[in-house]
Amino acid sequence: MSKKQAHLLGFVQHGVNSHATGMWRHARDKINWNYAAPDYWIHMARTMERGFFDAMFIADELAPYNTHGGSSDPVIRYAVQFPVHEPSTIVPIVAGATRHLGVGVTLSTAFEHPYSMCRRLSSLDHLSGGRVAWNIVSSYSKSEWDAYGASMTDRSRRYERLEEYMALCYELWNSYEDGAIVADRASGIYADPSKIREVNFDGQFFRCRARHFVAPSPQGHPVLWQAGSSDTGRDFAARHAEAIFAVLPTVNRMRQYTEDLNNRLEHKFSRPPGSVKLIFGLQTVVGETRAEAEDKYERIKACIPAEGALAWMSGHFGLDFSRYDLDEYVQNIEVPGIQGLFESVVYAKDGAPVTLREAAMIYAQGMGMPVAVGTAKDIVDAMEVYMDEGGADGFMLAATYTPGCFEEFADLVTPELQRRGRLRGAYTGRTLRENLIGR
Ligand SMILES: Cc1cc2nc3c(=O)[nH]c(=O)nc-3n(C[C@H](O)[C@H](O)[C@H](O)COP(=O)(O)O)c2cc1C
Repeated sequence: MSKKQAHLLGFVQHGVNSHATGMWRHARDKINWNYAAPDYWIHMARTMERGFFDAMFIADELAPYNTHGGSSDPVIRYAVQFPVHEPSTIVPIVAGATRHLGVGVTLSTAFEHPYSMCRRLSSLDHLSGGRVAWNIVSSYSKSEWDAYGASMTDRSRRYERLEEYMALCYELWNSYEDGAIVADRASGIYADPSKIREVNFDGQFFRCRARHFVAPSPQGHPVLWQAGSSDTGRDFAARHAEAIFAVLPTVNRMRQYTEDLNNRLEHKFSRPPGSVKLIFGLQTVVGETRAEAEDKYERIKACIPAEGALAWMSGHFGLDFSRYDLDEYVQNIEVPGIQGLFESVVYAKDGAPVTLREAAMIYAQGMGMPVAVGTAKDIVDAMEVYMDEGGADGFMLAATYTPGCFEEFADLVTPELQRRGRLRGAYTGRTLRENLIGR
């Protein structure tokens, strides 16, 4: 049987810090780089392409978290997902600097009409030559709703609305027939109106009467990406996604997740099991020797501020953890926020009790992802287990210090993956969908 090859995504935010809390103050972070300037993103993109990544993947939320102590002070104080600039603005920079690298962009459906969302994404698909993915989210944090002056709706209502959102997006994206753009200079006919359907949508949440404003883009629509993790969220992902991002702390949890998703695909949505790429979060700390890697890992952990760590958990999980006893076990707590990520701390020790104090430090390193620390050989050993036993089709590689962590990955881990036949030696597709999904 041929070995499964890994898909690689570089997981970042358009901000001073990504998903390892406190990294902005690490001695190796952004030496002579400004996260808010194009040069930094050009370098990050080229480094990921040099490492044969499928895409850069940009997470996002719409406002600083304000759950911890009822205020955004702690996340601002410790740069916990703050400041965060608008993610789609860097897509053309990344695409312009590379030939093959895709770019996944997280855009929330909560406060944007599907009509403008489709217009924006189709435009980005054109500008990138068909290398865009959309991480579909619906805003899970109260701070986002506060920022837009709206009351947060509950999860089931958000998913109901999201279903309708997608229905309208598909209508818009599928409204051009082949040959709709004629561009015949002699007759002066640019497009054939009979081949561009006017969408006439009258739903419970959205109304739209218009033709899609953007000509058909190279991929037709962006690669659809999802990370829903509740029961409804997993169904939504299984119905719509071409690739899924999940954080599972152990190989056992990965295996269970893979089985669950493939079951949903096959039995609920008549999609072949294995047809959706399962990309699992992974943080890597690589060194020339194990001792060097261990030392690096200690330095990374030393940057985490305890209050910032807890404030991040409050933001993601929708509870004010400043009011909790830090010796309480997370197994006894139910959260209204991101279910799947909370499970990453609940199962961090394979089900053994984890205190809130421990959970905050585990979570703050990289959202509860497994961390592979060691030489390139050690890291690829772990990746092979996650692929062969856990069902991973690839990895969302969470940034530590940047751009260094991706440079080190490209220099050390990429060649080891290639030596073992676990990573492409060249990009074979033209679009992100061709490279990532294989069609
Ligand atoms: C690994 C992972 C990454 C996520 N990244 C984001 C993100 O960048 N922005 C966002 O708004 N939501 C993000 N989410 C939230 C989900 O996409 C989803 O909206 C949220 O989990 C609520 O749905 P659920 O209750 O079904 O999980 C992420 C969730 C997971 C599990």
